[in-house]
Amino acid sequence: MRRPIIAGNWKMNNTKAQTYALLGELVPLVADAEAEVVVCVPYTSIWAAGEAIKGTNIKLGAENVHWADKGAFTGEISADMLLEQGVEYVIIGHSERRQYFGETDETVNKRVTTALAKGLKPIVCVGETLEERENGKVEEVLVRQTEGAFKDVVAAELDNIVIAYEPVWAIGTGKTATAQDANDTIAIIRGTIAKLYGEKNAEERVRIQYGGSMNPKNAKELMAMPQIDGGLIGGASLKAVDFS
Ligand code: 13P
Repeated sequence: MRRPIIAGNWKMNNTKAQTYALLGELVPLVADAEAEVVVCVPYTSIWAAGEAIKGTNIKLGAENVHWADKGAFTGEISADMLLEQGVEYVIIGHSERRQYFGETDETVNKRVTTALAKGLKPIVCVGETLEERENGKVEEVLVRQTEGAFKDVVAAELDNIVIAYEPVWAIGTGKTATAQDANDTIAIIRGTIAKLYGEKNAEERVRIQYGGSMNPKNAKELMAMPQIDGGLIGGASLKAVDFS
């Protein structure tokens, strides 16, 4: 019903040469994957990545997109620019962007609605910080971030949008949420989608990934959970064998 989706988030890693090398190794390793496979790469690697995965089952993703068509937004990239390079998926609202680059629920929503209108598929990141978790605010934060991201998103678009639940305290730390905890927290997010779009749409059409120190050791257990539809992989996506 919900096809698993495994996406690599390379973050600020890999030059053009490294992109060719990594994807050259990855292509045969995932050729028979049952899951949808995506690599989200830095802008400067998009062209090389597109060439390296041409004709394969790996799909191309970017790590951000601006909401304006074009104009005076130094350092930003538009949806049309990404589409022209063959990009299909785009990560939006990653916690690193919320934390270091002033991303808010409102700007996340602007990027999401623009991406969808242009035909890009957003991977929208939500997740609580350690402080929010310790203060019992997990549900409040996830409901706020999810509702914020989906404002003005119509039900017809639900097949084209993926959510990544990434507890901030688990990113790059080696600490993973337990599979049960990740599953139960993702159920909260799916419940929020159900309130907005109905139970059936939430169950059948919206894929929710887990992200945060997912690796070859814990992937199987996480993927076995009924609520978890895939992974958004950081560090482990930089090694072909680990990612595959
Ligand atoms: P790590 O897998 O390195 O913890 O990163 C997760 C992440 O932020 C993916 O977007």
